[in-house]
Amino acid sequence: MRIGVFASGRGSNLHAIINSINKGELDCRIEFVLSNNSRSGALEIARSHQIPAIHLSEKNFSSETFEDSLLQVLKMYKPELIVLAGYMKLIPKIVVDKYAKKIVNIHPALLPKYGGKNMYGLNIHKEVFESKEIYSGVTVHIVNSEYDKGRILYQEKVDLANCKSPEEIAEKVLKVEHLVYPKVLQMISEKKIKLN
Ligand code: GRF
Repeated sequence: MRIGVFASGRGSNLHAIINSINKGELDCRIEFVLSNNSRSGALEIARSHQIPAIHLSEKNFSSETFEDSLLQVLKMYKPELIVLAGYMKLIPKIVVDKYAKKIVNIHPALLPKYGGKNMYGLNIHKEVFESKEIYSGVTVHIVNSEYDKGRILYQEKVDLANCKSPEEIAEKVLKVEHLVYPKVLQMISEKKIKLN
């Protein structure tokens, strides 16, 4: 399965995906990595693995030209699936419509709880911690034009029994993400998880 990865930050999920591909556990080829952030770790990781690394930021375009450029990238690399791995921007509607049910995201909590516009990074884990949840987890879902609202494809619980701070929750959940995302992508590529 040909995939394109969108990421804004450090890129640890991208790294986990690359490792799984290299170990032969994930039958995917990363056609490109795209980031809105020129200094994102994800772009560095892509370059160090000879994967085309594309910086594309809305800030440098009018919204229409940005959308056109994004569509251009997709037309050029033809990914079968767009994989969001810490991409902090909403995907433009025109792209969501064109790639309906072909965009997935990973979220570090058990959606539909702890999702939505401001639910990213440590904000999520702080809320989970303050709500004294016994479990958090990882959700992989289809992307539509609302934050964290698309159909849920897979969830895995994380036991928070020994977590004494939001930071500890973040660390524990991230480790699970690194196992879950490659596994779910493989299930999608084998059609064990159907996007339609
Ligand atoms: C992950 O926690 C992911 O669930 C969320 O953003 C974070 C990205 O981390 N969507 P990384 O850049 O993959 O390390």
